Amino acid sequence: MTATNDIATKIRPASGKLGILTPGLGAVATTFIAGVESIRRGRSKPIGSLTQMATIRLGKRTDNRAPLIKDFVPLSGLDDLVFGAWDPIPDDALTAARKAGVLEDRDIDPIADFLSSIKPMPAVFENRYVTRINGTNVKQGKNKRDLAEQLRQDMRDFKAKHGCDRLVVVWCASTEIFIKPGPTHETLAAFEKAMEANDESIAPSMLYAYAALMEGVPFANGAPNLTVDLPALLQLANDKGLPISGKDFKTGQTWMKTVIAPGLKARMLGLRGWYSTNILGNRDGEVLDDPASFKTKEESKLSVLHTILQPEVYPDLYKDFSHVVRINYYPPRGDNKEGWDNIDIVGWMNYPMQIKVNFLCRDSILAAPIVLDLALFSDFAHRAGMKGIQEWLSFYYKSPMAAAGLQAEHDLFIQQTKLKNTLRHLMGEEQITHLGLEYYR
Ligand SMILES: NC(=O)c1ccc[n+]([C@@H]2O[C@H](COP(=O)([O-])OP(=O)(O)OC[C@H]3O[C@@H](n4cnc5c(N)ncnc54)[C@H](O)[C@@H]3O)[C@@H](O)[C@H]2O)c1
Repeated sequence: MTATNDIATKIRPASGKLGILTPGLGAVATTFIAGVESIRRGRSKPIGSLTQMATIRLGKRTDNRAPLIKDFVPLSGLDDLVFGAWDPIPDDALTAARKAGVLEDRDIDPIADFLSSIKPMPAVFENRYVTRINGTNVKQGKNKRDLAEQLRQDMRDFKAKHGCDRLVVVWCASTEIFIKPGPTHETLAAFEKAMEANDESIAPSMLYAYAALMEGVPFANGAPNLTVDLPALLQLANDKGLPISGKDFKTGQTWMKTVIAPGLKARMLGLRGWYSTNILGNRDGEVLDDPASFKTKEESKLSVLHTILQPEVYPDLYKDFSHVVRINYYPPRGDNKEGWDNIDIVGWMNYPMQIKVNFLCRDSILAAPIVLDLALFSDFAHRAGMKGIQEWLSFYYKSPMAAAGLQAEHDLFIQQTKLKNTLRHLMGEEQITHLGLEYYR
C-alpha cells in the first residue's frame, strides 16, 4: 500500500527481526508463543488477532476498498518474530505450556522442539509483590537500580544474540499487589533515587518498564499493576520517543461488559445491578486468591461500567447501580474459567428485566492474540514516531491508560473506531465517520 501523507512516508519499514520479550512465561505467554509458531508452521490460523485477520475499510463505501490491516500497515511479519522471557520459575516454554494446561498435547507435541528452546532469563522478582509464587530463577543485585541495569543488559544481549533489529516488551507476568501512586513515582529523579534506596513503592514490574524505556524499547502492560502508568515513566517514554500502553488485557467477562453496557446505554435502558462471579483454577487464579493481588484486579474491573454508563449524565438510568465482581480460585477448572453475570436492567415504565450470561471462556486463548497485536502495533507505533500513552490501543485493555485529567474510553466500539481511524490517519487515508455525507452533497 502506498503512503499518501507526511507521517506515512516517514514510517520506518518493518525490516529485520522483532524480538518480543515477556516478563512472565506462564499460561498467557506460552499460549501466545505456541500459537505464533503453530501459525508459522501452517498448523493453525491467527483467530482473534486484528493485525492478522481484520480488514479495514478505506474511502467511501462505494470504493470497495477493504484491505487486510496487515496489508495496509507496515507490520512485522510473523516469520520475523523472535521470543524471549523472564520468569522466576526456571521451566522452559515447553514445560511451562504443559503445566499451564491450556493447550492439548496434540498442539504442543509438534512444536515441542521450538518451545523447549525458549528458556526464561532470571527474573527480577520479590515474593512480597506476588505472594503466591516462589521462584529460584531470580536475579541478585545490590539494589533495585542495579537489578534494572541487569534487565537492560539482558535486552542488549538478547538483541545481539538473535540479531534483532528492534525489541518490544509485553508484561505477561503475575498481578502484583495493589500499590498507590506516590511521590517516588512523580519524577524520574525521585524514581531513580527510590530504586537506589530499595524503596518498597518500586515494584519489580516498574523495573522492567524502566529498563525497557531506557533501552529505547516500547512497553505494553497486560496486568492491572501500575507498572508503566506513572508520571515518571510517562515522562521517560515521552523524552525517549517511545510508545507505552496498558493496563490489563481485556478478555473474558470484562470484554463482555464493554460489549453489553454500550448496548444498554445506546437504547437508554437502565441498570440496577451487575453481579459477576468467576471460578478459575490456573496459577493466575491462585495469585488472585491473595486479597492484595485481587484488589489490583478489582480496581481494574470495577471502573469499566461507570465510565461507559456515565451515571452523572444519566442519573435516572444509572445512579447507584450496584456492581459486584468476584473471582474464586477453584483448581479443578484449570485455565478454563467459567463466569456468570446477572444483569438487572430496567425498561419502559420501570419494568425490571434480567440478562444472564454464562461464559465458559478460555482466558489465555483470548489473551494470546492480544499479546501479538499489542507487540506488533507497539512496534509499528514506534516506527511511526508515536510516543507516550497509546490511547488507540485501549481496545485491548480493561483499564486503559489515559492522559492526566482525561477519562479512559471503555466502550469497545468507540475503541475499535479509534484504533482503525488512527491507522487510517497514520497511513494518510481519510478517517471514517459513518456520517454518509455523500447523500447530502
Ligand atoms: N489470561 C487472561 O485472559 C488475562 C487477562 C488479563 C490479564 N491477565 C494477566 O496476565 C498475567 C499473566 O497471566 P497468566 O494466566 O499467564 O498467569 P501465570 O500465572 O500462568 O503466568 C504468570 C507468570 O509470571 C511469572 N512472574 C511473576 N512475577 C514475575 C516477575 N517479577 N518477573 C517475571 N515473571 C514473573 C510467574 O512465575 C508465572 O510463571 C497476569 O497478571 C494476569 O492477571 C491475563
